[in-house]
Amino acid sequence: MSTTTSTMAPPIVKEVSHAPERLYTADRAKFAENFNKRPFLLEHSLSNHPAFTMDRLHSLLERSLPIPNKVYWNAGKKRIDQRWKDRPGRDFSIEEAFRRIRETDAWIIIFGADRDPEIHDLLEQGLAEVQEMTGIPLSREEKSRQSIIFITSPHRITEYHIDKECSLLLQIHGKKTIHVFDQTDREVLTEEELESFWSFDNNAATYKAHLQNRATSFLLEPGKAVHIPINAPHWLENGDDISVSINQNFEYKNDRLANIYRANYYIRKMGMKPLPPGQSRLRDRMKGQGMRLPVALARELRELKDKMERRKS
Ligand SMILES: [Fe+2]
Repeated sequence: MSTTTSTMAPPIVKEVSHAPERLYTADRAKFAENFNKRPFLLEHSLSNHPAFTMDRLHSLLERSLPIPNKVYWNAGKKRIDQRWKDRPGRDFSIEEAFRRIRETDAWIIIFGADRDPEIHDLLEQGLAEVQEMTGIPLSREEKSRQSIIFITSPHRITEYHIDKECSLLLQIHGKKTIHVFDQTDREVLTEEELESFWSFDNNAATYKAHLQNRATSFLLEPGKAVHIPINAPHWLENGDDISVSINQNFEYKNDRLANIYRANYYIRKMGMKPLPPGQSRLRDRMKGQGMRLPVALARELRELKDKMERRKS
């Protein structure tokens, strides 16, 4: 799940810079070889960074709450295969969930945390190092970038899902295990799931318990980070302490691929079996171009609807 950084952010005054000399430590050749192909563990230098103390996170949460779509949270026991919207009832506020995070079974997400100037600088530094290690010209190839913060209760599970972003998840406090699957394994992640995901359903990936042994599992502890390729299915289980993690990610300009999946979604709806992307250059081009107008129209209609709803409220 994702949302891009808002331009409505209130100005925040930066105090002292605590920029580390280097954010990521990894074998450069292996980093480049595996990036966006398979998950891998690496090290980072932010586990004692002052931007991520509970006081600073609480202040960031308070500043984020008034901004639409910048905070998501739920609380209660969750299963690996539950959907985002299947949230257990909660009879307390997010403030209370944060204050009593040790016992509320909560999962709190702050999107666009890079509104904080220090977190912004760390995101810039981290992605500059990614660019340097991979040689990918991010400024040309990326659509958006952001930092997300996850604060989770002990033993809380993060449900199985896939993301549009290419990301690095850095563990700051506590320990948790992440299970990551191969995004190219079509038994784990089917064409139908990908078509639904890129068309309309963030929850389209379906957990298949009998394939759990195909996951690569990593123990994340402070100072460790994991790379998650685009669309690589994953789920997480927290250890017996509160967990704080930050995600540094970027989204590629991949509208064409998204449009191919969207076209395939409708082709399949009509009872035909669409050719997956990458198998016919001509068909991919036709699908990519053919979906541009309907997608643009749908976006405009969505924006118009949002505008009218904002006016009403
Ligand atoms: Fe994720």
